[in-house]
Amino acid sequence: MKYIIGNWKAHMSLSEMQSWVNTFSNAVKSDSATLNKLVNHQATVIICPPFPLISLLKDLLSEFPNIHIGAQNIASVAEGAFTGEVPAKTLKGLVKYAIVGHSERRHFFHETDEDIQKKIELCYQNEIQPILCIRGQYDAIDPRVELIAYEPIEAIGTGNNQPVDEVLTVKQQLNISLPKRFIYGGSVNGNNAAEYIFKMEIDGILPGNASLNPHEFLSLIKLIP
Ligand code: PGA
Repeated sequence: MKYIIGNWKAHMSLSEMQSWVNTFSNAVKSDSATLNKLVNHQATVIICPPFPLISLLKDLLSEFPNIHIGAQNIASVAEGAFTGEVPAKTLKGLVKYAIVGHSERRHFFHETDEDIQKKIELCYQNEIQPILCIRGQYDAIDPRVELIAYEPIEAIGTGNNQPVDEVLTVKQQLNISLPKRFIYGGSVNGNNAAEYIFKMEIDGILPGNASLNPHEFLSLIKLIP
């Protein structure tokens, strides 16, 4: 079973999302093989939209049982007077997954391993499965986390995806084995995704840019054997 995790980042207006869903749903429904993959749990698809779109996207995609909604982040505090933050408690029941530790959060918002650790804890307290993004061996991995997304900084948003053999070397160095899942992210697109998806040792992909186009995102799901 492979994971395809779309990270929309700070993109998508309400109308852009509606049009994304229309295009995506129509294309899936007219393609029974892909529809079967989604129903038969060959693929777990997770889409991580900006917070305000979570609820509506969840409703709009509810006809596809194996497409889940994830948050791109959660607050490192349980709740309180922290204007603008979205705590795990608020997301409980709305999302099944949350990305934590994305390198853009670590860089632009100065998140530390300690913050990320708190977020992981809060995810578990609120029945949310964390998808922990790490940049390499130097980032801490909580032993409980099952979904680990390796995203080398130089590959994110640059078009320079890391060659699959290098990705596998990092996996070995990290000593990741089942039940942990090892996911690759960084400039994954319709042209290179197969290299990662077809590797037994790689449990999925985390596309950013490529998830914004419903046709391209669907083309990634179609690759799943
Ligand atoms: P990208 O983003 O696919 O646009 O490189 C991936 C990510 O940052 O999660």
